[in-house]
Amino acid sequence: MNDYQSQNVADYPNDNTYFLVWSFKPNVDIAKIFKRICALIANINNSALDRFPDSSSSCILGISYSAWLKLDLLKPLPKELKPFSEIKGAKHTAPATVGDLHFHIRSDRKSYAYDISAIISDFLGAYAECIVEVHGFRYWDGRSILGFVDGTENPHGNDRAYFSVIGDTDPVYRGGSYLFVQKYVHNMNAWKSLSVKEQENVIGRSKDNDIEMDDDVKPSNSHIALANIGDDFKIVRDNMPFGNTATNEMGTYFLAYASTFSTIEKMLENMFIGNPPGNYDRILDFSTAKTGTLFFVPSLDMLDSFSS
Ligand code: HEM
Repeated sequence: MNDYQSQNVADYPNDNTYFLVWSFKPNVDIAKIFKRICALIANINNSALDRFPDSSSSCILGISYSAWLKLDLLKPLPKELKPFSEIKGAKHTAPATVGDLHFHIRSDRKSYAYDISAIISDFLGAYAECIVEVHGFRYWDGRSILGFVDGTENPHGNDRAYFSVIGDTDPVYRGGSYLFVQKYVHNMNAWKSLSVKEQENVIGRSKDNDIEMDDDVKPSNSHIALANIGDDFKIVRDNMPFGNTATNEMGTYFLAYASTFSTIEKMLENMFIGNPPGNYDRILDFSTAKTGTLFFVPSLDMLDSFSS
């Protein structure tokens, strides 16, 4: 798996993230715009490496199924690239929402994230509409806004690329990744009305020290009991909290990279439908998914070929 380069998907989360979803406007020359966007992303990343080498700055571009078809990109498509279909449980639903391009901008410096987002907006504004813009931030020691550390069981070291980047299973798309995103809004008033012990039962870990509960006490409807589908099926999550204290809109932008989308889909089914069905993820009683879109992140080589 070394003869290609992937976009910066396997990197660790850092302090500031802008998440953007854009959709093309009708009747624009999207082939030309897309070509220029791919060149711009390469330029942005090269420039970041040169100007701010220690700031972990990068911008990752994802392309949805709808955009892939509109742009008439390579066929056959990446094996698991399809429109995300809503997952409906008895009580909670993971909605499917539209979007053509996803930009995941990360940096230790907020100024960088802001500048890159502004450059993208300046360029795309005439041809596309930004339908989601979320500014995520590192909350204390990597906690979600619910107060629990988020990311502990992510793969580490070489495992990050192993679980997030496509290898020989889909040779044309080696070095690419599936990217799945959801914007969740939390009901903080309901969450805060729980005792710490009750909150720990929802997550399946201790709040202060982030220690996993023993299997014999961990509730079967806790988040980690349902999201963990086995050590061979991991994903690289790069969730970030966001929050507006005046409007009380607090949330988690869930973002995952994976070498197969079916892994993420299985986790979603466990959470929303339940395992067994009906035993759904209790975190959903405090978290509403507002969006849900699947994208494909091409390798750097493929991105380069799209720009010429
Ligand atoms: C409401 C949004 C979400 C929040 C606030 C959240 C938060 C958390 C927290 C606090 C943990 C425990 C620490 C850790 O290992 O990271 C965790 C674990 C995990 N989450 Fe989530 N999560 C959310 C949504 C999701 C979704 C949608 C998925 C999958 C599609 C997912 C997959 C996982 C996985 C795989 C683990 C690790 C389980 C383990 O192996 O122990 N999460 N999440």
